[in-house]
Amino acid sequence: MSNMDSAEVDKFQSFASKWWDTDGPVRTLHDINPLRLQYIQEHSSGGLRGKKVVDIGCGGGILSEAMARQGAEVLGIDMASDAIAVAEQHAEQQALQVRYRVQAAEELAEQEAGQYDLVTCMEMLEHVPDPAAIISACAKLVKPGGDVFLSTLNRNPKSYLYAIVGAEYLLGLLPRGTHDYEKFLRPSELLEMTRQAGLRMRDLHGMAYDPWRHQARLTGDVSVNYLCHCQKGT
Ligand SMILES: C[S@@+](CC[C@H](N)C(=O)[O-])C[C@H]1O[C@@H](n2cnc3c(N)ncnc32)[C@H](O)[C@@H]1O
Repeated sequence: MSNMDSAEVDKFQSFASKWWDTDGPVRTLHDINPLRLQYIQEHSSGGLRGKKVVDIGCGGGILSEAMARQGAEVLGIDMASDAIAVAEQHAEQQALQVRYRVQAAEELAEQEAGQYDLVTCMEMLEHVPDPAAIISACAKLVKPGGDVFLSTLNRNPKSYLYAIVGAEYLLGLLPRGTHDYEKFLRPSELLEMTRQAGLRMRDLHGMAYDPWRHQARLTGDVSVNYLCHCQKGT
């Protein structure tokens, strides 16, 4: 697999059993999940109910399950096989219908182009060698007029301080080494990648995280975490 950094995927393999520990290494993903879900519900045309969704880089299924609970038909894909095993087991325990696969986004896009109403790729682009190829795959997977939701981390001194020094070293919110500053993406870079992929960016917002309350809120400040809504032309 050319567009996969094994060391990155290994990080997520190593704590696979902790995906559903809300005080564990992916606690921040649990904390930001209600906000992400609400954003997707509000920005997608007609919400999630009845939508065919693919969640790229789904990990243990935190967002995939939340979308399935809202009535979406969800497929989650990730290259970390242990995370996928945990996701499958958890959905079964919850009696939720979610399909999971160990598969690269680019490969799925070859097989199932234009078959999805909505594509999500959250907190994953900053872990791959070629994020533009993932965004192209997202664009290929979604139907004309469909919705794509992306989130990642900005690249500037503040994001280095907050997301790496603060979150990993001072506050211990994330395991040390979770993030590689060089892979963070500026919103202008993401915008260009989405445009090249044939997507139109409809909305861009920052996600402010309060590490003491363990809560996130939307903000106009995109200097650290941010998320966006794109649509494919009809
Ligand atoms: C920070 S986690 C985010 C999980 C999930 N999207 C969420 O936000 O709850 C990043 C995920 O990206 C996955 N990943 C990294 N490189 C990947 C690749 N090339 N293809 C698919 N998944 C990948 C990791 O295995 C991990 O599960």
